[in-house]
Amino acid sequence: MQPVLKPIISRDQIQARLRELAAQINRDYAGQPLIIVGVLKGVFIFLADLIRLLEMPVRVDFVRLHSYGASDTSSGQVKITKDLELDITDRHVLIVEDIIDSGLTLKYLLERLQERRPKSLKVCCLTDKQERRTCSVPLDYVGFVVPRGFLVGYGLDYAEDYRQFPDICELEL
Ligand code: IMP
Ligand code: MG
Repeated sequence: MQPVLKPIISRDQIQARLRELAAQINRDYAGQPLIIVGVLKGVFIFLADLIRLLEMPVRVDFVRLHSYGASDTSSGQVKITKDLELDITDRHVLIVEDIIDSGLTLKYLLERLQERRPKSLKVCCLTDKQERRTCSVPLDYVGFVVPRGFLVGYGLDYAEDYRQFPDICELEL
């Protein structure tokens, strides 16, 4: 059977919310250089749209994380499979993520980056599956709080498919 894709956040809603998030980030950092750390791969479209709305000097780097566990849950055993190339010591750093689910991946990343002594470390995520959280992680900028279903599109994948869809959809398998 073909999976059903139910649109839940349209491309227009995403762009409108991005303008609000960027305005907030522009106010908070006002003229201070910022290193944006994108978490691959799901974040690539969100990050590309967001940084074009930022007014301070921005540098971009990426990490890729692998988390062990069943395919749809992370176990908390995480490792960095692609590390940063920029030095973040004494810099303002903003982690940009596509979706926060249990929070375990982000918790691990925050701990690893904090060890490098950035000047500040904050988090911006496009979507927040709040009710699935199993550990407490601070989120500074949140695009949308979303329901617990599996989301695809606008960079988000299911087994590497559907990243190219312009709207965020719920996948009904
Ligand atoms: P966490 O460690 O449970 O918070 O998992 C976060 C990661 O799992 C995200 O960065 C995504 O890569 C992936 N993920 C969690 N939920 C979804 C979803 O609904 N769609 C696509 N990827 C997801
Ligand atoms: Mg991710």
